[in-house]
Amino acid sequence: MSCLPQHVIYMDLDEALRKRRSIRSYLHKEVPEKLVRQVLEAATFAPSAKNGQQWRFTVLTGTAKKDLTNRFRHELEVLCKKIGEEEMGSTFVSCSIMEEAPVVIMVWNAGDMGWETEKHSVAAAIQNMLLKAHSLGLGTLWIGDIFATIEALEQHLNKPWKLISAVALGWPDYIPNGPWDGRPRKSVDEVAEFLC
Ligand SMILES: Cc1cc2nc3c(=O)[nH]c(=O)nc-3n(C[C@H](O)[C@H](O)[C@H](O)COP(=O)(O)O)c2cc1C
Repeated sequence: MSCLPQHVIYMDLDEALRKRRSIRSYLHKEVPEKLVRQVLEAATFAPSAKNGQQWRFTVLTGTAKKDLTNRFRHELEVLCKKIGEEEMGSTFVSCSIMEEAPVVIMVWNAGDMGWETEKHSVAAAIQNMLLKAHSLGLGTLWIGDIFATIEALEQHLNKPWKLISAVALGWPDYIPNGPWDGRPRKSVDEVAEFLC
C-alpha cells in the first residue's frame, strides 16, 4: 500500500512552484528511503555547467545526523562566546530544525574547475529537490546557516568537496497558511525589465 496521501501522487508544476514553502517543523515520522531517493533523483535532472553534475549528497539520519548536529551546535556555542548572541542570527534556530528533522541532506559541490557556475549547478539541483519533496507531500528547508561554521562541518564529514547547503526533510507538522504564508513575492514588474 502506498504511504503517500492520494492528493500528492501527481502535482501540476505551477501548483508545486506556488505552494512549496519552507517548512520549519516536522512530524516525528520516518521518511522511507525510497522517497529520499526520489528526491535525489529529481536533483540529478537539474541542468549543470557543462553537464558536470557537480552535486553530491550525504543523507544523514539517526546517529550520523545526531553527530553532525551535535558538532554544529557545539561550534555555534563556541562562536557565540566569541562574537555575542546578537551576531548569531538564525543559526541556532536552523540547528534546532536540523535536530528535529528526520532527515538532513548535506549538499556538496564536487566541481574541481573552480568555476562560479559549478555552485549554480548545485543550487539548481537543490531547487529540484525542494519541488520534488513538496510534490510527495514532504516538507523541506534549505539551510545556508551552516556557513557560520562551515569549516568544522566539512572537517566533520571529511569529503574532498565543498559544502553548499543543508536541506532538512520530513513530513510537515503544519500546512502553510495560503500561497505565500507571510512571505509575499515581489511582482514581475518589480523584479524584471523588458528591453528591446
Ligand atoms: C540559499 C538559501 C539559504 C537559506 N538558508 C536558510 C537558513 O539557514 N535557515 C532558514 O530558516 N531558512 C533558510 N532559507 C529559507 C528562506 O528563508 C526561505 O526560502 C524564504 O524565506 C522564502 O520562503 P519560502 O521558502 O517559504 O518561499 C534559505 C533559502 C535559501 C534559498
